[in-house]
Amino acid sequence: MRLLTLLSAAVLAPICGLAAPASDALIKKGDNLCSQYKSPPQLCTPDPTVTVAQTAERAYKFYKAFVVDGDARTMFSLIDNSYIQHHAGYANGPQAIWSLFCNGKAVGTAANSAWCFDASTNMSYARYSTVDRWRWVDGCVHEHWDTNEKIPTDKCYKLNTTLHG
Ligand SMILES: *[C@@H]1O[C@H](CO)[C@@H](O)[C@H](O)[C@H]1NC(C)=O
Ligand SMILES: *[C@@H]1O[C@H](CO)[C@@H](O)[C@H](O)[C@H]1NC(C)=O
Repeated sequence: MRLLTLLSAAVLAPICGLAAPASDALIKKGDNLCSQYKSPPQLCTPDPTVTVAQTAERAYKFYKAFVVDGDARTMFSLIDNSYIQHHAGYANGPQAIWSLFCNGKAVGTAANSAWCFDASTNMSYARYSTVDRWRWVDGCVHEHWDTNEKIPTDKCYKLNTTLHG
């Protein structure tokens, strides 16, 4: 659907003098790392000293890298090597999903997506065309679900506004 929208916008824009819809125009592209790296260049090393506040910061960084920036390098640097996958058809481990993200294509914008970290469960959420849920263990993304997930509207961690105003 998005591809179709982009395509028709690209075809029609020169004819009608129309700009692409704002949401598509803002979709970013990070570096395409696919040919350079056949597996993630860096993963997250579990560290039990990482605090809940630091985990919340990391969860925001993960959401931004994945959804808004298409920054696969940063995204995978926050996933541990024993990542458990609950999406049917994909093996466990970050290596199994590298090829889906290495092209650097973002999946949303800050305006049309949302993020939440629930410190009571150590789960983070991202809403874009779907909702993903991840469990954080020792400062790293450790487990992923994406079937009928609901992003919480309350109990979301408030990041330090000096840093994220
Ligand atoms: C969440 O993670 C923290 C460490 O960051 C840990 O102390 C706490 O027990 C975890 N909570 C749950 C519900 O797993
Ligand atoms: C928020 O971050 C700033 C800058 O790093 C720091 O000075 C301040 O103490 C932090 N506030 C809280 C409540 O953690």
